[in-house]
Amino acid sequence: RPGAAQWVPPGADLEQLRRAAPDCRGCELWEPATQVVFSAGAPDARMVLVGEQPGDQEDRRGVPFVGPAGRLLQKAVAEAGIDLATTYVTNAVKHFRFTQEAPGKRRIHASPDVAHVTACRPWLAAELVQVDPEVVVCLGATAAKALLPKDFRVTKHRGQLFTLPTSLGEKRFLGTIHPSAVLRTPEAERDAAYAALVADLRTAATALG
Ligand code: URA
Ligand code: SF4
Repeated sequence: RPGAAQWVPPGADLEQLRRAAPDCRGCELWEPATQVVFSAGAPDARMVLVGEQPGDQEDRRGVPFVGPAGRLLQKAVAEAGIDLATTYVTNAVKHFRFTQEAPGKRRIHASPDVAHVTACRPWLAAELVQVDPEVVVCLGATAAKALLPKDFRVTKHRGQLFTLPTSLGEKRFLGTIHPSAVLRTPEAERDAAYAALVADLRTAATALG
């Protein structure tokens, strides 16, 4: 795995990054996937939301967070008092990783390995430099692995604002659960899990100047 660096044009703006991403061969995930899923949202967003990787529907449509997890995220963002139009949404890994028993069978989500996160990180790093947001929200452990300190644990540190050094100076970061984790929560606890996600997003919004 060479990693994405050689496919990321230096100094490129977001549109140039978006146009370059389909050529990436930084890891093997490009091959079985339908297409690269880059990002959505405002280039001058004050808040960046980082997910794990595109899901089945995102892979087919080429747009992040358009499936069930995306709908839940949009609802939670709105409920946290954040204008979705002021956010930029992307993923730690830009190609859908899945298993499939046979061609035409259902494609089942497979979590990316740390190696995929590492391979894909040059895209995310370039996006963050271009968007230059006030706060970055990591949705779930994969996004946290891409951007937060090694000892970060979602269970222990979720909902806490961190100030971390970046190439653009100090930035605020917050990790929380992934919206898919809310969807997977047993029904009796799902409302509480959703409310906790909304509460964490509200905390992230307090970092907006
Ligand atoms: N889950 C993610 O992490 N990202 C998406 O784009 C869709 C589902
Ligand atoms: Fe490149 Fe990332 Fe896709 Fe791997 S997952 S091929 S590093 S864009």
